[in-house]
Amino acid sequence: METRPDVFSVLLFIVVLHSVAASPSYSSSSSANLSFTFYAASCPSAEFMVRNTVRSASSVDPTIPGKLLRLLFHDCFVEGCDASVLLQGNGTEQSDPANRSLGGFSVIDSAKRVLEIFCPGTVSCADIVVLAARDAVEMAGGPAIQIPTGRRDGMVSAASNVRPNIVDTSFSVDEMIKLFSSKGMSLNDLVTLSGAHTIGTAHCSAFSDRFQKDSKGKLTLIDTSLNSTYADELIKQCPADSSPSVLVNNDPDTSFMFDNQYYRNLLSHRGLFQSDSVLFNDERTRKQVEDFANDQVGFFESWGQSFFKLTSIGVKTGDEGEIRRSCSATNT
Ligand code: HEM
Ligand SMILES: *[C@@H]1O[C@H](CO)[C@@H](O)[C@H](O)[C@H]1NC(C)=O
Ligand SMILES: *[C@@H]1O[C@H](CO)[C@@H](O)[C@H](O)[C@H]1NC(C)=O
Ligand SMILES: *[C@@H]1O[C@H](CO)[C@@H](O)[C@H](O)[C@H]1NC(C)=O
Ligand SMILES: *[C@@H]1O[C@H](CO)[C@@H](O)[C@H](O)[C@H]1NC(C)=O
Repeated sequence: METRPDVFSVLLFIVVLHSVAASPSYSSSSSANLSFTFYAASCPSAEFMVRNTVRSASSVDPTIPGKLLRLLFHDCFVEGCDASVLLQGNGTEQSDPANRSLGGFSVIDSAKRVLEIFCPGTVSCADIVVLAARDAVEMAGGPAIQIPTGRRDGMVSAASNVRPNIVDTSFSVDEMIKLFSSKGMSLNDLVTLSGAHTIGTAHCSAFSDRFQKDSKGKLTLIDTSLNSTYADELIKQCPADSSPSVLVNNDPDTSFMFDNQYYRNLLSHRGLFQSDSVLFNDERTRKQVEDFANDQVGFFESWGQSFFKLTSIGVKTGDEGEIRRSCSATNT
């Protein structure tokens, strides 16, 4: 165990009193065995410890909330919310080139280390991923949400499962609806959860399909649904010869704030990915985009419900899976 909490943290954890989580506000058959009091007896400080870890990591590095939120999405859409995305090794989800630069693993690992000291073998990595993403949203200014726990960690992680289950920026609304509905997610969930792009960053390659190199090797806009002023800014940040490590803010206006600015951006044709823009261009989703652009409270309410559904996808409970000792490897 290379990292140990300092004396102050230890005292803090012991002294702090915990109120048992409030009663459930949603229900879903897939999460029948998740509970709002799952760790109440076995590890009452579990949520507090995760929150503390996310808070301190995010205060040092403001890019952490975006990473944690995306990590959850990629965990839940591939094999369900079972921490399969955290497993390292040959041929795991992480090794797929389409892992698209996931991050935040070290934050999950730190939270797990603390939890293993206070409640060994008790809190699943799958729950940590969910709680960390929930906390990340709140710390970035988003809504506070109660989420039930009791997920177990999966034993399977295969790169070949990534592509068929993760949305690509080139997807049409139809293709996105199809993938989302295969996970029990609605059109409304698609529009709502895409609002996650109100924080975080993207590599230039993630939206390079909207540009083309001209004869002089300069980028020009080919996707006319994109705001040309915004397109010029993007070309400035991501010229044809830019390094592959260059990052652009998903939301150019309030980059680190979890708010409804994403939808306002869509209204001014400033959706960064093609998969963002199409939500405004498609008749079936436009109304919802406009509503959220005008009503942050409405967006936050919808977020709470869609986020709950996301965190319930394919969860393993009861005797399924295991509680990993280390999040990056199965126990055996
Ligand atoms: C619906 C289709 C979606 C597509 C096509 C998509 C695609 C992408 C892409 C290409 C990136 C940039 C990755 C990079 O280049 O580093 C990204 C970033 C991000 N996505 Fe999505 N995404 C989708 C939905 C979601 C959902 C549902 C969530 C969460 C609920 C989410 C959360 C994020 C976050 C937070 C980032 C920023 C990550 C960071 O800052 O490191 N996305 N997404
Ligand atoms: C991963 O697989 C490759 C080829 O299949 C092999 O050469 C390599 O030793 C493996 N690495 C590990 C860590 O198992
Ligand atoms: C993710 O994919 C990239 C690009 O193929 C690769 O360089 C990187 O090593 C992968 N990440 C992990 C953790 O395997
Ligand atoms: C393009 O974006 C700018 C802000 O960068 C905004 O003022 C303008 O209204 C947008 N144009 C269109 C056509 O939406
Ligand atoms: C809930 O747990 C019980 C006992 O562990 C099991 O029999 C039941 O199938 C589970 N229900 C769901 C929906 O997973």
